[in-house]
Amino acid sequence: MSKITVIGTGYVGLVTGACFADLGNTVICLDIDAERIEGLHKNVMPIYEPGLEEIVERAYRGKRIDFTTDYPQALKEAEYVFIAVGTPSGENGEADMQYVEKAVKQIADTIDHDFIIVDKSTVPIGTGDWVGDLIRERIKDDSIQFSIVSNPEFLREGSAISDFMHPDRVVLGSTNPAACEKIAELYAPLRCPILFTDIRTAEMIKYASNAFLATKISFINEIANVCERVGANVIDVAKGMGLDSRIGPKFLNAGIGWGGSCFPKDVKALVHIAQQYGTQPQLLQAVIEINQQQRKRVVDKFKALLGDLKGKQIGVLGLAFKPDTDDMRESPSADIIRFLLGEGANIKAYDPEAMEQAREILPAAVDFRENAYQVVDGADALFLATEWNEFKQLDFDQVGKLMKGNLILDGRNIWDPDALIKMGFKYVGIGLGQHK
Ligand SMILES: NC(=O)c1ccc[n+]([C@@H]2O[C@H](COP(=O)([O-])OP(=O)(O)OC[C@H]3O[C@@H](n4cnc5c(N)ncnc54)[C@H](O)[C@@H]3O)[C@@H](O)[C@H]2O)c1
Repeated sequence: MSKITVIGTGYVGLVTGACFADLGNTVICLDIDAERIEGLHKNVMPIYEPGLEEIVERAYRGKRIDFTTDYPQALKEAEYVFIAVGTPSGENGEADMQYVEKAVKQIADTIDHDFIIVDKSTVPIGTGDWVGDLIRERIKDDSIQFSIVSNPEFLREGSAISDFMHPDRVVLGSTNPAACEKIAELYAPLRCPILFTDIRTAEMIKYASNAFLATKISFINEIANVCERVGANVIDVAKGMGLDSRIGPKFLNAGIGWGGSCFPKDVKALVHIAQQYGTQPQLLQAVIEINQQQRKRVVDKFKALLGDLKGKQIGVLGLAFKPDTDDMRESPSADIIRFLLGEGANIKAYDPEAMEQAREILPAAVDFRENAYQVVDGADALFLATEWNEFKQLDFDQVGKLMKGNLILDGRNIWDPDALIKMGFKYVGIGLGQHK
């Protein structure tokens, strides 16, 4: 049993804290957001993540997890201090390090015993050294020993608990092998491969991994656009490619592009880092550009199919950047809705979990509805933006009766084109050359 403090109770911090507590450690989660902490004391989750509530509740009942806004209380007995605060995009695409800096300064000002600081936030290469300097500058008692370990997080929103508990690998980077060994012990129950590196390499592994996944998606979207022109089917193309063990089937689903709290900011940050060090990351810049174009292409398709969009009613199903999360950060649906409103279309929208977050960021003109059928009622067109399970088997007889028009634009290729065409719909997917 170890004593762990986690700074930040967002997707990464809360999941990390809850999972380590579930494994039998004593965890204190700290956040500067008092409302979050108050809610957590009443088992109100600040985010939607399948399975999280149950784990937090169990650990809280067992007194293995607690929540606070108070740094001295959080750090009192901490052996390991995990940093999991946000690193959003700054003005020029760089990672905004203000939250990490504040957290590190508060740790340095407060802690009065030896500790290991473990960075889980995604941070620019060289941050580990900077954090070390910052602590050395501020810490009052020079006899306090500390080490820094970079431990990038690879969990996915929507399956965060399972990803944490069954990781493909854990990466630990440090100048102090003994510190790495101690953190490795925390992960020992997960029985996964653990890779030991230096700090900069660990920091780079995170950026390189996200950039590669984003590249795969932009790649298949580019192929999808060619498929549409040449009359090929990108779903089968991806299948044919994915069966090649050198390529693999994952992250080859053509659609309306990637979004979320990580890929957009991390690819931009990597571009920024590369430029800062005097290299031109041409591939990464193209990956970003293709992703932006993919959103605009949806509007072009609507214009080609419906003509002038002024006054046209479009029903949007799904708003979150992917299913099983309520995260709206950089969601493709948000840009597409803004573009469609800009063309004069009227939008009705529904998402199973992200309505509250969507209301905060989308224009007031969006008419939020309570289910899929209310969204299609009177619509000239239906647009599927997020592939939630509950949309996979809609009652299309009912949809057909409720819609005014018959156009379905399936932004995630989840429906059967032939079946829908047989029912009288005009079906358009992404990269389906024979159904364009
Ligand atoms: N969300 C993901 O899927 C994911 C996956 C892997 C890595 N990451 C990385 O992990 C980091 C955290 O991401 P997230 O999505 O969990 O962020 P988040 O925005 O959901 O949560 C961050 C939390 O940190 C708190 N915070 C900010 N400053 C603080 C401070 N000084 N002291 C204490 N708390 C503070 C905020 O109030 C917030 O609750 C980022 O660097 C991100 O890139 C995220």
